[in-house]
Amino acid sequence: MVSWTLLRVSLELALLTKGWAQTIVVNNHIIPADASSIAPAFTIFNASSSNATANLFPGETRQLTHDILANLTKLSLTNSGLFAFPDLAAPIRTPEDCKNFPGDSVMFPGTITNAVFNLLLGGSLIHTKPLASPCFSDYKNQDSAKCAEITSNWFNDSYIHTDDPTSINAILFQGTSCVPDVVNPWATQCTIGSYPVLSVNVSTVAQVQLAINLARNLNIRLVIKNTGHDFGAKSTGAGSLSLWTHNLKEIRFYEDYEEGSYNGPAFKMGAGVQIFEAYKAARQANVTIVGGEGKTVGMTGGYILGGGHSPLSSIYGMGSDQVLSMEVVTADGKFLTASETSNPDLFWALRGGGGSTFGVVTSMVVKAFPKIPVTTMTFTLSTGTDVQVDQFWQTLRAYFQDFIKYTDAGMYSYFSLNALTGNYVWTMQPWFAPNLTKAQFEEITAPFWNATRIIGVDLKPVYKEYDDFYEAWDESFPLEPWGSNLQRAGSRLFPKENWEDQNKLSETFEAIRYVVDSGGYVLAFNIAANPKTGYPDSAVNPAWRNTVLHAIDSVSWTQEMYPELIQIWSSTLTFDWGPRWRSVSPNSGAYLSESDYIEPDFQQSFWGDKYDRLYKLKKKIDPWDVFYAQNAVGSEDFEMSDNVFGILPSQNSRLCRKKPTPAGT
Ligand SMILES: Cc1cc2nc3c(=O)[nH]c(=O)nc-3n(C[C@H](O)[C@H](O)[C@H](O)COP(=O)(O)OP(=O)(O)OC[C@H]3O[C@@H](n4cnc5c(N)ncnc54)[C@H](O)[C@@H]3O)c2cc1C
Ligand SMILES: *[C@@H]1O[C@H](CO)[C@@H](O)[C@H](O)[C@H]1NC(C)=O
Ligand SMILES: *[C@@H]1O[C@H](CO)[C@@H](O)[C@H](O)[C@H]1NC(C)=O
Ligand SMILES: *[C@@H]1O[C@H](CO)[C@@H](O)[C@H](O)[C@H]1NC(C)=O
Ligand SMILES: *[C@@H]1O[C@H](CO)[C@@H](O)[C@H](O)[C@H]1NC(C)=O
Ligand SMILES: *[C@@H]1O[C@H](CO)[C@@H](O)[C@H](O)[C@H]1NC(C)=O
Ligand SMILES: *[C@@H]1O[C@H](CO)[C@@H](O)[C@H](O)[C@H]1NC(C)=O
Ligand SMILES: *[C@@H]1O[C@H](CO)[C@@H](O)[C@H](O)[C@H]1NC(C)=O
Ligand SMILES: *[C@@H]1O[C@H](CO)[C@@H](O)[C@H](O)[C@H]1NC(C)=O
Repeated sequence: MVSWTLLRVSLELALLTKGWAQTIVVNNHIIPADASSIAPAFTIFNASSSNATANLFPGETRQLTHDILANLTKLSLTNSGLFAFPDLAAPIRTPEDCKNFPGDSVMFPGTITNAVFNLLLGGSLIHTKPLASPCFSDYKNQDSAKCAEITSNWFNDSYIHTDDPTSINAILFQGTSCVPDVVNPWATQCTIGSYPVLSVNVSTVAQVQLAINLARNLNIRLVIKNTGHDFGAKSTGAGSLSLWTHNLKEIRFYEDYEEGSYNGPAFKMGAGVQIFEAYKAARQANVTIVGGEGKTVGMTGGYILGGGHSPLSSIYGMGSDQVLSMEVVTADGKFLTASETSNPDLFWALRGGGGSTFGVVTSMVVKAFPKIPVTTMTFTLSTGTDVQVDQFWQTLRAYFQDFIKYTDAGMYSYFSLNALTGNYVWTMQPWFAPNLTKAQFEEITAPFWNATRIIGVDLKPVYKEYDDFYEAWDESFPLEPWGSNLQRAGSRLFPKENWEDQNKLSETFEAIRYVVDSGGYVLAFNIAANPKTGYPDSAVNPAWRNTVLHAIDSVSWTQEMYPELIQIWSSTLTFDWGPRWRSVSPNSGAYLSESDYIEPDFQQSFWGDKYDRLYKLKKKIDPWDVFYAQNAVGSEDFEMSDNVFGILPSQNSRLCRKKPTPAGT
C-alpha cells in the first residue's frame, strides 16, 4: 500500500531505557523522497467492529493496527518501534524521574522521527508558533499588521484563541512567554514557554493512537488542547507533544436513538464541537441540549469530562449526566467505546473524572430534550446616593433566602458581586428560568420583591420571555472575554443544608461578604444538579448533588504591582478566603473546572469519597502515566520543577515524578 524511496541518514541513536527489555536502534532512518506517495498509517474499520451504537464518524474509522506497524517494520523503517502498541504481557518499565524534554537526550523526537511521524500522520504535525509571535522577531514571522490585529482582538475575541493550536486562557501558569503589549507592555521577546512544541491537528483516531504510542514509548509529556479555556492551564505543558482536537467538528442528529434504557433524540458530536455550535445544531433540530454558558467553551471536551454545569442543570442535572456513550483512545493506544455496557468503569470515570486523565475522547453521544421556553431577568444594584450599604446587603440576603425554592422550580441564576470601584455592585446577569413564564417567575419570587419594597430599594428588573433556549442563552451570555495573567480564582460548592438553618445561612452569607469586603470579585451561580428525574452514577463530585450555590472568588492585580504584593494577593485567595469558605462548608467540595490552581486536598474537594476508585482506575488504565494535568486524578505523584510567585506550579518547567519522602519526615 505504500511505496517508499529509501534515503539513508547517517545518524545513529540508541534508545536504552531502564528496565525496558527492548532496545530501539534508530539508525538507517528512511525518509521518503516523495512524500506525496506515502499514505498515512491507518486501516478503515466501520462501526460494526466496535461496540458503538452510533456509527463512527469517518475520522473514527481510520485506525492504527498491529498489521500496519508490522508493515512499517518490514519496510525497514527501524524506528517504527517508536509507534508500537505496548506489550501488555511485559512488566511496566520503571519510568524515569522526569518526562523527557527537548534537547535533553536522545529520547526526545528529533528531525528524523518527526519527519516519519508526520508522514504516518498524513501531514498533520504542526511545529508550533505562539499566537502573538508576529509581534516579535524571535520566530522570524514578525508582521506589524498581524500583530496589530492580534493585539486589538486579544481580550475580546475568544475565537482567535480557541482556533489556535496552542493559545490558552491561563497564561500566568504558561509563563506569559509571548504576549502582545496590551498584556505586558515591557515584553521584549517571544519564547515558547509552556506551549507544546509539536501539535497534531487531529482528524483521525489513527493520529491520536500514533501520538499516544510515541509519547508513551519515549516518556515525553502529552497534552490535549481543545479550546484552551481551562482555568488551570490543563491544556498546555513545556516540552510536550499536543493533540489538538479542535477540528473534530462533526455533529450528527438522531431523532430516535436507543442505548440501554434510553430511547429518544440524541446527538453524536466530535470532541472539538464548541457550545455555540452544539446549541445551533440543537436549535436546528428543534430540541434542547444541556451545555455550559460560555460560547466558545468546548462542549464535548474538558467541559463534560469535568462534569459540566449548565443554565439547565436545575432541571436536567450536569452536562455529563446526559452522555450515553463516548469513543476514546486510552493510554495503551486502544480505541474503545465507553458506555453503560462497554467498558463501564471507564465510562463512569470519564463523566466528571476530569480531562486529560483516562484517555482522549474523539466523540460523545448526548441526550437531547424537547424545545422549552425560557424567561430571563436582569438587574444591577449599586450602593451610592440612592442605596445605602445596609440596604444593599439586606437585599442580597433576601435573595439568598430562597435559593432552595428557586432551584426546585428549575431556575439558575448567574450573578457577580464586587466593591472594586468603592461602591458595592451586584449584577444579575441573568436570572434564568427555563420552562417558566414571566407570571410564574414573578409568583415564585414574590417574597423577594416584597422584601425589596420593605428594604426600600428598586431593582428595576428587566424581564424577557423567549420561546426557546437558544435565543435566551444567546442574548444572555455575550462572547466571553479571554483571560489575562493578572488574576487568580478559587471556588466552593456551598451545601443546601446551609439554607435549612438560618444560622448557617448567615455564616455562609458573611463568608461571601468577607471576600467582597477584602477586595475580591465573586461570580456565583444559584444552581442545583439534583434533578427530580434522577441522575446516573458517575465520577461527578458528590458535592454537586447537594449544592444550591457554586461561587467563584477571584483576585486581580495590576501590571504595576511588585511581585511581593501580587504574592500577598495570591496567598490571600488560597490561605484566607479559601479556608473561610471551607469552614462554613466543611464536608462539601469545589468544582474542578473552576477552582483554585493549588486547591488544598484537591482529591477530596473535587471528588469526595469517589477519589479512591478514580485513583485505582487511573493506575489500571494508564499505568505508564501518559496523561497528566494539574490537579487531575493521579497528579499527586508528579510535580513541576519550577513555580510562579513561589507557590504556583509553572507549566513552563519540567514534569517530574515526585521522589518518595524519606521515612520520618
Ligand atoms: C468563559 C468561560 C465560561 C465557562 N462556562 C462554564 C459553564 O457554564 N459550565 C461549566 O461547567 N464550566 C464552564 N467553564 C469551565 C470549563 O468547563 C472548563 O474551562 C473546561 O476545562 C473547558 O474545556 P475545553 O475542552 O473547552 O478546554 P481545554 O482547556 O482545551 O481542555 C480542558 C481540559 O480537558 C482536557 N481535554 C479537552 N478535550 C479532551 C478530550 N477530547 N479528551 C480528553 N481530554 C480532553 C484538556 O487536556 C484539559 O485538561 C467556563 C470557562 C470559561 C473560561
Ligand atoms: C463493515 O460492516 C459490514 C456489515 O455492516 C461488514 O460486513 C463488513 O465486513 C464491515 N467492514 C469492515 C472493514 O469492517
Ligand atoms: C501490508 O503490506 C502488504 C503488502 O504490501 C499489503 O498487502 C497489506 O494490505 C498491508 N497491510 C496493511 C494493514 O496495510
Ligand atoms: C474586538 O475589538 C476590536 C477593536 O476594538 C474590534 O475591531 C473587534 O471587532 C472586536 N471583536 C469582537 C469579536 O468583538
Ligand atoms: C487542521 O486540519 C484541518 C482539517 O482537518 C484543516 O482545515 C486546517 O487548516 C488545519 N489547521 C492547521 C493550523 O494546520
Ligand atoms: C466491548 O465491550 C466489552 C465488554 O465491556 C469490552 O471488554 C470491550 O473492550 C469493548 N470493545 C470496545 C472496542 O470498546
Ligand atoms: C418543535 O418542538 C415542539 C416541542 O417539542 C413542538 O411542539 C413543535 O411542533 C416542533 N416543531 C417542529 C417544526 O418540529
Ligand atoms: C415544563 O412545564 C410543563 C408544564 O408546566 C411540564 O409539564 C413539563 O414537564 C416541564 N418540563 C420540564 C423539562 O420540566
Ligand atoms: C407581599 O406583600 C403583600 C402586601 O404587602 C401581601 O399581601 C402579600 O401576601 C405578600 N406576598 C408574599 C408572597 O409575601
